Amino acid sequence: MNILITGASKGIGKAIAQAFCRRGGCKLFLVSRDKSLLEDLQAQTKLSNPNCETALFPCDISEPVLVTELAKSIMQKESKIDILINNAGALVNKKHEDISEDEIDLMFNTNFKAPANLIRELLPLLRNADHAHVVNIGSMGGVQGSSKYPGLAYYSASKAALSVLTECLAEEYKNQGISFNCLALGAVQTEMFAQAFPEAKAPVTAYDMAEFIMNFSLTAHKFMNGKIIPLSLSDPK
Ligand SMILES: NC(=O)c1ccc[n+]([C@@H]2O[C@H](COP(=O)([O-])OP(=O)(O)OC[C@H]3O[C@@H](n4cnc5c(N)ncnc54)[C@H](OP(=O)(O)O)[C@@H]3O)[C@@H](O)[C@H]2O)c1
Repeated sequence: MNILITGASKGIGKAIAQAFCRRGGCKLFLVSRDKSLLEDLQAQTKLSNPNCETALFPCDISEPVLVTELAKSIMQKESKIDILINNAGALVNKKHEDISEDEIDLMFNTNFKAPANLIRELLPLLRNADHAHVVNIGSMGGVQGSSKYPGLAYYSASKAALSVLTECLAEEYKNQGISFNCLALGAVQTEMFAQAFPEAKAPVTAYDMAEFIMNFSLTAHKFMNGKIIPLSLSDPK
């Protein structure tokens, strides 16, 4: 089984890669900008399971040209992708009146456009899978009716866009053997969370969330398509 995970260098993405490695029976394509962190992860996974195959793709997925190159280089070696986990994300915690155009672009490019571009570029590989599952990692902030926070307007809006993209693509590709679902995460203790909320402690670890995401990505497409699933112990944390 071929699985591509974006944002695999740290946090939840790294933990998802480690979870798949512990489980075995898969080849992992790991994407993030930091090559040396990906190499560290590759070394760790080899120790934990020598049979777990990993291929590293250092790439800034907020650059559409680089996403095209990334897809091309995967296609040169592989014929299919079974699971695509769009996990990479960016968060700038700033109020509406203070945020800059570049910061807005960073969040929309990383959280919305990058997954959309990656899905488009990888369609030939997704179509070749027996039944591919695209899992988009959203946020509770992007769920209609959830509690909202000052400073997270643009982050939440970018994640809401990703949620709606999930619903729309599920419809567009429902007869092509590709399912799309979005997990709207609540707070998980990672670097991103600690930077955004230095005073707070999240009730869920990256390890536990990763186990859930792995099991969801392996099986949920048999039961649901185009769904946005809120994952929080309370609203919003
Ligand atoms: N932690 C939470 O409480 C929480 C709650 C709701 C939703 N989420 C979502 O869960 C996902 C993972 O979050 P996390 O908490 O694990 O964050 P994190 O610790 O900050 O990790 C983010 C990952 O995304 C990668 N990334 C960021 N920009 C990238 C780019 N332009 N190109 C390629 N990779 C990029 C980073 O790698 P490099 O720096 O090496 O590129 C890193 O591996 C995100 O989508 C986040 O929005 C998290």
